[in-house]
Amino acid sequence: MSVKFSPGLEDTIIKQTSLTFIDGINGILRYRGYDIEDLVKNCIFEELIYLMLYGDLPNRQELNEIKEKINKNYQVPEEVIRMIYSLPREANAVGMMESAFGMLASIYDPKWEKTLNRDVAISVIAKTATITANIYRAKEGLKPNNPKIKSTYAETFLSTAFDRNVSEEEISSMNAALILYADHEVPASTTAGLVACSTLSDMYSSITSALAALKGPLHGRAAEDAFNQFVEIGSLNKVEEWFEEKIIKGKNRLMGFGHRVYKTYDPRAKIFKSLAESLSKKNEKANEYFKIANKLEEIGIKHFSEKKIYPNTDFYSGILFYSIGFPVYMFTALFALSRVLGWCSHFIEYVEEQHRLIRPRAIYIGPEKREFKKIDQR
Ligand code: ACO
Repeated sequence: MSVKFSPGLEDTIIKQTSLTFIDGINGILRYRGYDIEDLVKNCIFEELIYLMLYGDLPNRQELNEIKEKINKNYQVPEEVIRMIYSLPREANAVGMMESAFGMLASIYDPKWEKTLNRDVAISVIAKTATITANIYRAKEGLKPNNPKIKSTYAETFLSTAFDRNVSEEEISSMNAALILYADHEVPASTTAGLVACSTLSDMYSSITSALAALKGPLHGRAAEDAFNQFVEIGSLNKVEEWFEEKIIKGKNRLMGFGHRVYKTYDPRAKIFKSLAESLSKKNEKANEYFKIANKLEEIGIKHFSEKKIYPNTDFYSGILFYSIGFPVYMFTALFALSRVLGWCSHFIEYVEEQHRLIRPRAIYIGPEKREFKKIDQR
């Protein structure tokens, strides 16, 4: 067997996929052949759920059927909500999601079966909305909410999270964010989940693995860190000075910039930017952050474009979430809310079509054989 050393698995193709196509050189992203721009402009998240799980966009009847299935699955076992509320308010939101999915894994423990897998995925996706909304509520000190079922997934989620009427623009922005973050081939989180489900561990446990990988600052947490840069900068006239100090002299990474696959402007970042610009106009603070981000982007591109480092999806998404009314600590959880669709779709594709236990090798670089010494002789 010839084995190639590939740190970071950069040169490793782990699966085939019909789900997501990325052209990192030309900045193209497609889900099942459809350009991300067309999907964001024309679809509700439920249409994307159908597309990813069943292979095609739904007709009206199929859309109604999947909406009905989702509506029946928003309810989360009471003990999971109780557990969320038993955690300290300062607990990490994604850590709370991991705990919730760990509990769901112990309660449901579903087997992988072709006739059941998509139903399990729908249960995961619907329950994530209720779990995420209640994590926000628990951390804000608000009482738990049962799912408030509305006409779309985005509206149901926002209505469950907030005790207020949500505007059409907030719903459509949330819907767009759900579509933009839904899948991205096999980043660290999807790969971590694939490792778990390759052992035929259940879908809820595999989601827990994916969440653990998403939580890190080099992956999902970048949206929080990117936004915190705008907060730290504080005003438009400090952007240049901050960049010089923190990034050039301090040699810190510019968060929300750079990508393993995109060597050009991330197509999702373009859409997030225009949505964030429009939504932030209604919120003075958010609008200030948008202007700071825009200036930081300009300086960042000037400095980094030679290395092909451009804004990624996390650069502007935080401004959109903040404009809707979410605190920074929720940004990665909101990313996860959307990405569970991609995770479930990849797990199903892998288990049903190309299953193989994922078990790479390591090159041993430790000492040669040594003579064992009993404890008193060491
Ligand atoms: N700021 C400054 N320099 C950077 C950045 C950045 N954001 N990203 C990469 N670089 C530089 C590195 O310092 C390195 O420079 P060198 O060759 O002179 O040593 C070079 O670019 C290559 O960097 P790597 O880390 O090897 O590239 P990799 O493909 O692993 O990077 C990553 C991808 C981890 C996303 C990186 O760009 C990064 O850390 N970005 C900031 C965090 C971030 O925004 N993550 C979100 C990613 S998108 C997502 O998860 C949805």
